Amino acid sequence: MVKIAPSILSADFCQLGKDIQAISTADWVHVDVMDGMFVPNITIGVPVLQSIRKHTDMFLDTHLMVEKPGRFVAPFVKAGADLLTVHLEADMPPAIQAALEEMDTLGVKKGIALRPITAAEAVLPYLEKGLDLILVMTVEPGFGGQAFMEHQLPKIAAIRSYIEKYCPGCHLEVDGGINAQTGKQCVDAGADVLVAGSAVYGAADIPAAIAALRGDLKG
Ligand code: DX5
Ligand code: ZN
Repeated sequence: MVKIAPSILSADFCQLGKDIQAISTADWVHVDVMDGMFVPNITIGVPVLQSIRKHTDMFLDTHLMVEKPGRFVAPFVKAGADLLTVHLEADMPPAIQAALEEMDTLGVKKGIALRPITAAEAVLPYLEKGLDLILVMTVEPGFGGQAFMEHQLPKIAAIRSYIEKYCPGCHLEVDGGINAQTGKQCVDAGADVLVAGSAVYGAADIPAAIAALRGDLKG
């Protein structure tokens, strides 16, 4: 069953509570945390996630686009994140591994994310140790509303085969330029979690947009 995770990056931050309520038919809330260093944009941080947590019981899928993300594992867990995803490019491998181990210790689900340039094989050392999610970026991280990179599809398929071999049950999420059509391409390649920002919040009818992402995938 495919999960839909609308990205609140495309929400109106002045009415965030209302905009989160509007996606209650989705599965997860995707929270994009950016530090202005790992990516050229600054979004939201720990206090905002804490407020979101008070407002909803939905699963908070937290995508950390920050340098040296290990610094923020404990604060985001304390604030109420359900899953933390760290970018492999954001620190040296031992530090990424240590961040994942801290997630285990603190009882939060753990994921790794890959920029478009990072090869599928990069997930292997982490996947063999166990992961809850791998996130394949289908745009350059930093901004919503960009065009889907079709050349990421073979990478999605390769990672799906690694997951089946080494860690069945690990989710495979895609993020960037996802709509009903590109989402279907990703699911056909092996993805099972679709992040969508502008395709959900840019729609006149948000529940219908979520249903389209889901419904087109059923046939
Ligand atoms: C981009 C973020 C995405 C973004 C997706 O760096 O990670 O989650 O919000 O937005 P769309 O769906 O508009 O490409
Ligand atoms: Zn994201």
